[in-house]
Amino acid sequence: MNTLKIVIIEDEEAHFQLMERAIHKEFPYASIDYFKEGALCLQRLEEISPDIIITDYLMPGMNGIEFMEALNRKDKDIPVIMITGQGDENIAIRAMKLGARDYLVKIANFFTLLPGVIYKVISEQKLKEELRRSEKRYRILFDNFIDAINIFSEDRRLLDVNKKLIQLSGYSKKELLSMKVEDLYSVNVRPAIEEKIQNMLRGKEVPVFENCLFTKGGDKIPVETGFGTLKNCYGQEIVFQGSIINIIERKRAQEQVSILSQQLMKAQEDERQRLSRDLHDLVAQDLSALKIGLDTFFDDQHVVYPDQRQKVVELSEIVRWTIMNIRNMAYSLRPPNLDQLGFAKTVLNCCEEFYSSTKIKVDFSVAGMHGLEFDSDTEIILYRLIQEGLNNVKKHADATHATIRLLGSFPDLIIRIEDNGKGFDVESRLASAVNEKRLGLRSMEERVTLLGGKMKIQSRPMRGTKIFIEVPYRGNNIGWQEKNLNC
Ligand SMILES: Nc1ncnc2c1ncn2[C@@H]1O[C@H](COP(=O)(O)OP(=O)(O)O)[C@@H](O)[C@H]1O
Ligand SMILES: [Mg+2]
Repeated sequence: MNTLKIVIIEDEEAHFQLMERAIHKEFPYASIDYFKEGALCLQRLEEISPDIIITDYLMPGMNGIEFMEALNRKDKDIPVIMITGQGDENIAIRAMKLGARDYLVKIANFFTLLPGVIYKVISEQKLKEELRRSEKRYRILFDNFIDAINIFSEDRRLLDVNKKLIQLSGYSKKELLSMKVEDLYSVNVRPAIEEKIQNMLRGKEVPVFENCLFTKGGDKIPVETGFGTLKNCYGQEIVFQGSIINIIERKRAQEQVSILSQQLMKAQEDERQRLSRDLHDLVAQDLSALKIGLDTFFDDQHVVYPDQRQKVVELSEIVRWTIMNIRNMAYSLRPPNLDQLGFAKTVLNCCEEFYSSTKIKVDFSVAGMHGLEFDSDTEIILYRLIQEGLNNVKKHADATHATIRLLGSFPDLIIRIEDNGKGFDVESRLASAVNEKRLGLRSMEERVTLLGGKMKIQSRPMRGTKIFIEVPYRGNNIGWQEKNLNC
């Protein structure tokens, strides 16, 4: 532990000795430097570097107040205790205004009180230094934090910003401190920002949200923003803290993944179409020719043994089955009539076939779709959504009834796929789906995302399943995913 270094300035030596005794009783290891005049003390201040100065007011030459003024000019934060005579309260007030930490009046119990006052002043000083150190640590952290941070007041004025925000926004610190928090965002996200601040004021938790930062140069940078509340140093007024994370790299990566999966799905669909066409046009045609060949095998033969005829009839039947299976396979790979019939009619066909193969009734309805046209890439994506939805009803739901609704509701197309089956725990099934290599629902979500839409699954055990899909309609091309954030 460091020795407590005390300086006493007192012109009456006897008085000093009493003070010294009282102090040593409480602080036996304290070192005490004694001066009869303030000016002498000031000369040796650097060398002694005291923890505390106790000065008498009334002294020849420089009085206590003049000493404090001179000390303040030296810009040293050394706590001072002023000793005044009885009835000198005005002096005490002046001393406190000059920064004295406490004062003591020379009365009967003066020597008993002195150690306690020293103890209090030293403790306060330690606290102050600790606070200063912690403020410095906070400052370093604030300034050098990897995310951009701003502090703003209730009237939305920016009170403080860190280096990262200066760098990200392109504004200087001075410029930022003359701005309001909403000036950092583009005009169309400001209402959303304001709503979050209002929620925060109502004491609600505001989760981080994606938006765009509007830079001085006019660029929009995708960011993730979080808000929190802070009390100011007096614990009264509430100030807010906003943290801003640049997510441009994440967005780029997401865009890349999205472009890749878009290309992958397109390639998959093209491949399916090719396979479907080959199966239908080549394999099924050749098998049809083979069947005709078998059916007419004995036409120009006069003598045919019954068992030979029977054998060929059986072979022809096998070929007929094979042709039928191949046509079904070709159909499920890519419904050939999507281009000719259009989306709604093809879905109707799909529902009818679903009923004939599963005996699960499908209630199909279309509304508001008149005049809505989709390009073929979009149509096949929408069709696959319904196909996977119905597939799941067949495979998992134990349902007796399903519903498919297509609703053109400007500016969106809404698709609902429902069943009255046994339902499932959506969250846990989705969480385990990837490990179990079950990708149906995930690929539905992926397809919906590609169209810039949203998908919601509602399901409860024994209460059936409802899938809501909402995709924006943009002209005849329903559109692939919007690459930009809405800002
Ligand atoms: N309509 C449904 N009714 C009941 N369970 C369903 C339904 N749709 C999906 N599920 C459940 O969700 C799981 C994941 O579905 P999915 O991703 O399509 O994979 P898969 O069909 O290959 O199992 C299924 O295994 C099933 O448990
Ligand atoms: Mg599935």
